[in-house]
Amino acid sequence: MKAFLNGAIVEKADKMIPLEDRGLTFGDGLFEVLRVKDGHIFFFEDHLSRMRNSAEFFGIPFPYSRDEIKDRARELIALNGINDGELYIELTRGVDQNREHKYPPKDTPPTFFMLAIPLRDIDPMNWKSGAIVFSFPDLRHGLCEHKTINLLPNVLAKNYAYQHGGYEALMYREDLKGKYVTEGGSSNYFFVSGNIVITPEIDNLLPGITRSKVIERLKKNGVQVIERRIYHEELKKVDEVFLVSTVSMVMPVRMIDGKNFKAPGQVTKKAMLLYQKLMEED
Ligand code: PDD
Repeated sequence: MKAFLNGAIVEKADKMIPLEDRGLTFGDGLFEVLRVKDGHIFFFEDHLSRMRNSAEFFGIPFPYSRDEIKDRARELIALNGINDGELYIELTRGVDQNREHKYPPKDTPPTFFMLAIPLRDIDPMNWKSGAIVFSFPDLRHGLCEHKTINLLPNVLAKNYAYQHGGYEALMYREDLKGKYVTEGGSSNYFFVSGNIVITPEIDNLLPGITRSKVIERLKKNGVQVIERRIYHEELKKVDEVFLVSTVSMVMPVRMIDGKNFKAPGQVTKKAMLLYQKLMEED
């Protein structure tokens, strides 16, 4: 298998990132996960824009143009023979021999790599009859609107869900009114109440590409979508819940913390079809 690292396509097995890379020592970096099918990279511009904007926010130099990245990504996907898979992109602030927290000198080159890998192993029953989900505290920092590689709280949350037989963890924080659910460990979510679809507003959580596509498509098709804070208590009374992400796409949820939901319900089915259609058009 090949990878793209700092300007060249290399053999994945023998290419090493220096131990002092700030991605390793500080989690000082960003990532993107893109879906790949039959040579096509879905929603490439959206993912690249999100990464570039965050790189600018954190002052990490962005080393290549969109076209360069797209060309090299396509080459990598072809070389690795990936028909149905994921393109993983990571950008870090580069190598810093001194391991000092402050930013390294301005001319320090960033580390940029891409992996083209087969789609992760997900039981198709999750789409057919719904995923099992557990809630878990959202232990993250205040930078969750960026796709940073600081994922330890997400790892804890998702591992808890897996250990209990679940697919995803929905993470919650607390305010004076109680627990409110922010997003999944690696997905956003929606719930359906009557004919209205509700999803958390972007308030220290990831502005998911799939989330924005699903909102846009539902609205275009006459479904009312509201973005606001969602309390854990509310989820007990809703009709349908679904997860969205590049990898999960639109995935119905059949159980949260032991409470059952219809999966997929009518509105979830509609969102699944609309998103599928959108991917076909991309
Ligand atoms: N995760 N929220 C979090 C915390 C995520 O990590 C992701 C994506 C999403 C959905 O974003 P998008 O629709 O842009 O994929 C929401 C990727 C898929 C992952 O970590 O594998």
